Amino acid sequence: TGMTTLDPGFGNTASCSSKITYIDGAAGILRYRGYSIEDLAVGSTFLEVAYLVIYGELPEPGQLKEFSEKLRENADIPAEMGAFLDAMPRNGHPMALLASAVNTLAAYYEDSVDPSDEAQVELATIRLMAKLPTIAARIYRNSIGEQPIAPDDSLGYVENFIRMTFGDNAADGELGDLFGKAVDLLLILHADHELNCSTATVRTVGSSQADIYASVAAGINALSGPSHGGANQAVLEMLDEIRDSGVGIEEFLERVKAREVRLMGFGHRVYKNFDPRSKEIKGLASQILDRDENPDELFTLALKLEAAALADSYFTERKLYPNVDFYTGVIYRTMGFPTNMFTVLFAIGRLPGWVAHYREQLHDPAFRIARPRQHYIGSEERRYPGLS
Ligand code: CMC
Repeated sequence: TGMTTLDPGFGNTASCSSKITYIDGAAGILRYRGYSIEDLAVGSTFLEVAYLVIYGELPEPGQLKEFSEKLRENADIPAEMGAFLDAMPRNGHPMALLASAVNTLAAYYEDSVDPSDEAQVELATIRLMAKLPTIAARIYRNSIGEQPIAPDDSLGYVENFIRMTFGDNAADGELGDLFGKAVDLLLILHADHELNCSTATVRTVGSSQADIYASVAAGINALSGPSHGGANQAVLEMLDEIRDSGVGIEEFLERVKAREVRLMGFGHRVYKNFDPRSKEIKGLASQILDRDENPDELFTLALKLEAAALADSYFTERKLYPNVDFYTGVIYRTMGFPTNMFTVLFAIGRLPGWVAHYREQLHDPAFRIARPRQHYIGSEERRYPGLS
């Protein structure tokens, strides 16, 4: 083991070659399969991006239609699974429930758990994409004590998720037609991000030849932590706390600099100038929340917090900038999502990426079980005292 290099957090270790996502952290560039997220944000839909990320090319109109139809046909969950979801703790964190539910898909659909059979992996891909929004919406409905709403196969992917979550009146709210478009854009911006913690987890679990459901469930669990996807929830809790406690922004930043707390939604392993997703999301937030007469209170607070941090050398010296999670929460709250559902939205967005990486790995000529080494720093050989 003297030959191995210690690299905590894999900051400098590439564990695979990939064709899915390109990131230039210094220049703030993010591309899926060669297409910039700025272009996709303007011209695409989440379903088209999901297809692109998973299958490698933009779909022809006929292919997109077929993909979309398959997802509609598979959106239902088995009645027994519904009963299982209904029996889980209603106040439990939706990410815990979501991961458990996805894990059980392997038990409900044993005809799609063999990674060596391409048709099975494809079937599982469709089932995961089709059912994740149905499961997520049911978890939400249970948490507020409301009846589930079955998928409606006349609706598009995102519209259907919104309707299963909020019912028919979602579009009557403050956001109106912008609601669906905004959710779609947020999902596009989350679709993949190369070897982030959850995707690396999906690959690691999949590298043992575990099935795709088990691997994605593991990804959901990795995403739940506040250093990763759970940051979107943590940002909103931080903003609420700053507002409710009356602690000033300067005072809060002093606590961050004293390492008592982290500034949630700031910092990134790869982006050292700006996070291009955060730029897009801030633009969306301004569009929705920067209303002339009645600007959103938390959005205004977030803007001030960002400006104060970026004016402070602690943050600039360490190249800490707002990441994808900084402005999402204020948008999700305006849409009516409870704070603990924010990371579930991230999971729905990231699913195409997880699936694409799992599938790419199966065809990688260098495919090998993930098995890092360690540097042992424990005690030398000791004699067990029972042997005299
Ligand atoms: N607030 C205060 N200081 C920070 C922060 C922060 N959010 N992030 C990093 N630092 C400091 C850190 O203390 C260290 O300082 P020093 O060199 O003096 O010890 C320096 O910046 C480098 O930090 P690091 O911990 O080595 O950075 P990392 O690449 O290991 O961690 C990170 C990346 C995202 C986990 C971290 O920046 C963080 O905890 N951010 C807050 C949580 C968050 O917003 N996560 C979302 C990440 S983006 C999308 C996603 O995955 O969901």
